Amino acid sequence: MRILIEISYLISSALFIFGIKMLSSPKTARKGNFLSAIGMLIAIVVTLLDQHVLTYEYILIGGLAGSIAGVILAVKTPMTGMPQMVGMLNGFGGGASTLVALSEFYKLSGSVPTETGIAIIASLLIGGVTFTGSMIAFGKLQGLVTGKVVKYKGQHAINLLMLVFVIGAGVYVVMNPMTTLNLALLLTFISLVLGVTLVLPIGGADMPVAISLLNSYSGMAGATTGFVLQNNELIIAGSLVGASGIILTNIMCKAMNRSLMNVVLGGWDSAGTVSTASTTSQKGQVKSIDPDELAMIFDVAESIIIVPGYGMAVAQAQHAVRDLVNSLEAKGKKVRFAIHPVAGRMPGHMNVLLAEAQISYDKMLAMEDINDDFPTTDIALIIGANDVVNPAARHDKNSPIFGMPILNVDYAKTVVINKRSMSAGYAGIDNELFFYPNALMYFGDAKDAVTKLVHEIKNL
Ligand code: TAP
Repeated sequence: MRILIEISYLISSALFIFGIKMLSSPKTARKGNFLSAIGMLIAIVVTLLDQHVLTYEYILIGGLAGSIAGVILAVKTPMTGMPQMVGMLNGFGGGASTLVALSEFYKLSGSVPTETGIAIIASLLIGGVTFTGSMIAFGKLQGLVTGKVVKYKGQHAINLLMLVFVIGAGVYVVMNPMTTLNLALLLTFISLVLGVTLVLPIGGADMPVAISLLNSYSGMAGATTGFVLQNNELIIAGSLVGASGIILTNIMCKAMNRSLMNVVLGGWDSAGTVSTASTTSQKGQVKSIDPDELAMIFDVAESIIIVPGYGMAVAQAQHAVRDLVNSLEAKGKKVRFAIHPVAGRMPGHMNVLLAEAQISYDKMLAMEDINDDFPTTDIALIIGANDVVNPAARHDKNSPIFGMPILNVDYAKTVVINKRSMSAGYAGIDNELFFYPNALMYFGDAKDAVTKLVHEIKNL
């Protein structure tokens, strides 16, 4: 029986590994997700069979309630709400690890072996921080908690003090196995508070990095709980999530030109507040354009780069954008997409939407592969993007997004910006691009505006 269980765990781990590998390309991502889900199903069933469960009633009730809640959330959450959903799921992972570690401590009370004690303390700390940290991140992304940098006096000293306390108390608990549950509970409580105080100061613009870091923490919490329960599967799955989360965090940091330390110690030099300097950017005249005039400009253009952003997702304009590509290509134009790594609200957001509209992957180019082509491009058409094309990131040292690599749309011969108004994007800052001499504002909801443009192009 034991060997069968270990083999099933091995199969499930292999499914996780192949699943994650397949997530690295949008073409195979769906399949990869499915494989990982099968791996998880095997892991759950095998664990239940392995644990000599006396009564399945409560497990079934819990499983059913969780599955129903999961299905409802997955169906109801719009694409634009995915980062919050991921944030919340990370938190649940951390919370579950904390509860399991606490119950093991309670079960073993009085005789906690040293290795298990270390794993329990690590689970309580990482799991606790992940749970409340993720809930704050969820609140920030959902607009329930302020997205601004929250600073207060002595913030870093207080955080450090709490961390030192948890580690110190943890060492005491490990060295004194007779310790009562109370100290473990206090240590858990402080870890929960630490999660709040660590994530609260992080500004809205740094949230993508914070979410992927918390994702990694939830994996680490799972892995340490695997050591508590001596469950190899949990150790492997947790390590995979922990490691891939760190890799993603690194990618996000590079994409936004933030140092990890800067984000983790949020509030020191973090983005997310409205920069006063950015509003002093040299303004000029805004030129707006109608669909019929715009169609004529497109008619004489040969090369077009489309830059999609969060607004395209909100408007669900991807199908209209596909029609635009088809009608332009039918007239012999060269059309490609430039995808910024943090466009939208989650990694790969734009690729997923465009793929959903059957736009070929070959047309979607990553920022580093297309950025040099803007100077030789006739039209850069921006659909609902803002921060990722804000030239202030290049030169305005006071801008919250200073240093973030941007798409060089302003180097194109003409830049057309479609959005509903002059409002700011996620980082809450003005965009000087709208006032550039080669910029034309094409106001309107993305779906509606692109549909009108397609109509005019076809009528020419
Ligand atoms: P944003 O800078 O957020 O700008 C989106 C723009 O879309 C807004 O200025 C808005 O202007 C416009 N818009 C909204 N609804 C629209 C509609 N129905 N039709 C047309 N336009 C619409 O978007 P971005 O350029 O994609 O940049 C992403 C930002 O989100 C970055 O700051 C990034 O750091 C942050 N972020 C990214 C992620 C990931 S991982 N991708 C996660 C969290 C945060 P109007 O209101 O005037 O229409």
